[in-house]
Amino acid sequence: MKVDVLLGLQWGDEGKGKIVDVLTPKYDIIARFQGGPNAGHTIEFDGKKFVLHTIPSGIFNKGTQNVIGNGVIVDPCILKEEIDTLLQSNINALDNLYISKKAHLILPSHRLLDATYEKEKGKSKIGSTLKGIGPTYSDKTGRTGIRFGDIISNDFIEKYKKLKSDHFKIIDFYKFDFKDYKIDGFAFDEYEEKWLKAIAELKEFKLIDSEYFINEALQQGKSILAEGAQGTMLDVDFGSYPFVTSSNTIASGVCSGLGVAPKNIGKVLGIFKAYCTRVGSGPFPTELNDADGEKLRKIGREFGSTTGRPRRCGWLDLTALKYSIMLNGVDELMMMKADVMSPFEKLKVSTKYNFNGELIDNIPYDISVSGLSPDYTEIDGWNVDIDNLTSIDDAPEKLMDYIKFIEKEVNVPVKIVSVGPDRKQTLIR
Ligand code: GDP
Ligand code: IMO
Ligand code: MG
Repeated sequence: MKVDVLLGLQWGDEGKGKIVDVLTPKYDIIARFQGGPNAGHTIEFDGKKFVLHTIPSGIFNKGTQNVIGNGVIVDPCILKEEIDTLLQSNINALDNLYISKKAHLILPSHRLLDATYEKEKGKSKIGSTLKGIGPTYSDKTGRTGIRFGDIISNDFIEKYKKLKSDHFKIIDFYKFDFKDYKIDGFAFDEYEEKWLKAIAELKEFKLIDSEYFINEALQQGKSILAEGAQGTMLDVDFGSYPFVTSSNTIASGVCSGLGVAPKNIGKVLGIFKAYCTRVGSGPFPTELNDADGEKLRKIGREFGSTTGRPRRCGWLDLTALKYSIMLNGVDELMMMKADVMSPFEKLKVSTKYNFNGELIDNIPYDISVSGLSPDYTEIDGWNVDIDNLTSIDDAPEKLMDYIKFIEKEVNVPVKIVSVGPDRKQTLIR
């Protein structure tokens, strides 16, 4: 068996959580391979809505094991809260949740560092979720981080104190006034207390050598789906640097984030919205700062699942989509939120960019430059409600034309069309 991969092709929030949940019954294991609680993956079924930040989206299926891989970074407080929320709905995540000992810990002081750096950047801030992502991955690559496996060692508290004191040297240097700063609503000391309590409880969890767990499962013929977080355009290498996250969000991240050899990667499933959104700062060529953008935000309920911030909205950008398909080797596409576009009589799709008087079909080194604008093709909208469709065969012809237009441009088939947030609102082609 090989590891299939599902990942976002845009700037995150494509609907990964929903589709992983829909596909979960086909898989024995769902595994997160990168990112941390900057992710917010929404799943809706039976009138209930859950937002997962750290736990893989396979947790709602009793027979599926869920792995938090070595490439993920974990805030124990946030993980604990997720587990407690699930318990309130009678879902015992602990039955099916496995955490890599090599996953790095997000310390409360990483959260303060994130805020310090963002404040220092002023107007050029990244628009981080402030979950401590950048500082934690910096400590990982700087070889000063603390891993999950360390929480059971005798010198854990010493390690913690040392790293925290190193962080405070930086926080003090920048004179960041952390006493007035709240971490998810808590003062630093209170958050630290919660954090240490959560650490004590996490010792009872299934801490594993996830690279062996995954590879042994493959040998036993088990099916595995790797669940991406963020999106390709936020990849630390290929996104619009520095307005990116701090991990490799692309398919290659599965190899390093789970310990899977490249030859053991199977199908790559790429997920995109029928339009585009971005939350946080950074270039966004098809962004709409007009009534259409507002309409997409309102109908699509485009507010961040993790931070509640309004998402920036715009038309579909095929140059960016083709770039993402290339980087990931996407085999199949999934188009999300088609229903959000139903009220539009006319739709626009950017097929190329105008760049300094030339038409180009690649992402330039600096896409934030003022000389770049989308080259739009106008397409008729379907302009009827599609939320209640149960079969793609009943889809309006103009929706199928929109899909076929995209397929022709990107040369990859669209296999799933999503017409609402609920599990059931999923059309298979
Ligand atoms: P993720 O981070 O990729 O898992 O996506 P998010 O959960 O952050 O954001 C996707 C949002 O769109 C969530 O609120 C979903 O419930 C919602 N959603 C997913 N698919 C659809 C769809 O087809 N139509 C509509 N209207 N909403 C959807
Ligand atoms: P999911 O998995 C959308 C964005 C932030 C910011 C930049 C860096 O739900 O799709 P970070 O917190 O990583 O330092 O933020 O990346 N970002 C996301 N945007 N969806 C996400 O995750 C995101 N995770 C981070 O808004 O612009
Ligand atoms: Mg999200």
